[in-house]
Amino acid sequence: MSILIKGGTVVTAEQTIRADVYCADGKIKQVGDKLDVPTGAEIIDAGGQYVMPGGIDPHTHMQLPFMGTVASEDFYTGTAAGLAGGTTSIIDFVIPAPQQKLMDAFHQWRDWAEKAVSDYSFHVAVTWWDDSVYEDMGKLVADHGVNSFKHFMAYKNAIMADDEILVNSFSRALELGAIPTVHAENGELVFQLQRKMKEMGITGPEGHPMSRPPEVEAEAANRAIRIAQALEVPVYLVHVSTQEALQSITTARSNSQRVFGEVLAGHLLINDSVYRDPDWERAAAHVMSPPFRPKNHQAALWHGLQSGNLQTTATDHCCFCADQKAAGRDDFSLIPNGTAGIENRMEVLWHHGVSSGRLTMNEFVKTTSTNAAQIFNIYPRKGSVTIGADADLVVWDPEATKTISAKTHHQNIDFNIFEGMEVKGVASHTLSNGKLVYKTGELTVERGAGKYIDRPPFASYYDSVNKRRERNQPTAVAR
Ligand code: URP
Ligand code: ZN
Ligand code: ZN
Repeated sequence: MSILIKGGTVVTAEQTIRADVYCADGKIKQVGDKLDVPTGAEIIDAGGQYVMPGGIDPHTHMQLPFMGTVASEDFYTGTAAGLAGGTTSIIDFVIPAPQQKLMDAFHQWRDWAEKAVSDYSFHVAVTWWDDSVYEDMGKLVADHGVNSFKHFMAYKNAIMADDEILVNSFSRALELGAIPTVHAENGELVFQLQRKMKEMGITGPEGHPMSRPPEVEAEAANRAIRIAQALEVPVYLVHVSTQEALQSITTARSNSQRVFGEVLAGHLLINDSVYRDPDWERAAAHVMSPPFRPKNHQAALWHGLQSGNLQTTATDHCCFCADQKAAGRDDFSLIPNGTAGIENRMEVLWHHGVSSGRLTMNEFVKTTSTNAAQIFNIYPRKGSVTIGADADLVVWDPEATKTISAKTHHQNIDFNIFEGMEVKGVASHTLSNGKLVYKTGELTVERGAGKYIDRPPFASYYDSVNKRRERNQPTAVAR
């Protein structure tokens, strides 16, 4: 199958040029003006539109078993919804239960993801520690294309990683050329503050942000960054939601530490007033961690994105319907944590980022696609419009408008946190591995067409740190 995208303007992280794009056999074959292409190619008229690398959402949780239930969106429905919004790759999370072998969990998630319709990859969480975890981290990097390991500093008595686990796992990641990532919230503080709220008689969703104030994130972010600094390992902070955590990232980066920060579309656009909604279901539908924050944090996060101190945007797409959220009717700490957004991330960021003048189109591409591809080492195969790259592309109509609603979205959830938001600028066509899978409202996806993306380990920075460290080790005799 071959496709010629004709008459559009190609927008990448580096440049904006008038060019046609020819795709065949799943790859980008030619980019330029007046292309000489074989006859028979399907033509997409991109006149007046932008042709960009498909979005990469580096933080999703399809069909995650979590807090006594399972996320309602699976790898089929979730990746399809992503394609409808211009997102062509996800990096999801393998989250082993405590004591579950990492390799067993990895194979379980690989099985679940077989039905994906777009490409996908996995961060693997380190939720406990013993020699087998150390060994399995090595196998995952060497043989299974994993180059990032996740650490939940929250969720005490479940999947929380304490300092011992963080230090062991970060050190192992450095040996392997992998990057540690963290959910930065102090799990002990959350646990105790939840108890305090309940003792005070606060049982509704408003107790969720009250038990997770900005200090909870600030402390953990700072701790993770300092541990990474001491061990000389890069670190990536997922869903940065506070100006305090952003400040720690900014300070570390200005001291040449390799720290990366991700921000969610939701944290940029939604504030904490949602938890004071008198409608319990609506308030509970917004329960996710870290919670939505007061408006001053949103302004700081936009600044972080503009300044480059936050590099990626994600959704933390983790869907729970009203009947699942109802588990916490009498106790906010039992409301399954998670919100959706994979279908809407690109359009809300275009509307509130590019159209509002906060981001250039090239910065939009960087923060929705290219930076994630570079940080997680899949560039230029993903995140670029270059010859030989996977033909994962979105044709973007800057004039088309849409009102976001759970009634019309493809996501398998009965709620949309962006409900009623009017956006200008949406995906008109999405290509996944060279196939046209979405065309103005119509999805034509094939179950299982998505492929697992191998992500090789990082070389240069890690080699230099590891070599320097070896040189500085006292020898056995000297010891
Ligand atoms: O509330 C959230 N974010 N749920 C998914 C798990 C996580 O912490 O990322
Ligand atoms: Zn998280
Ligand atoms: Zn998450």
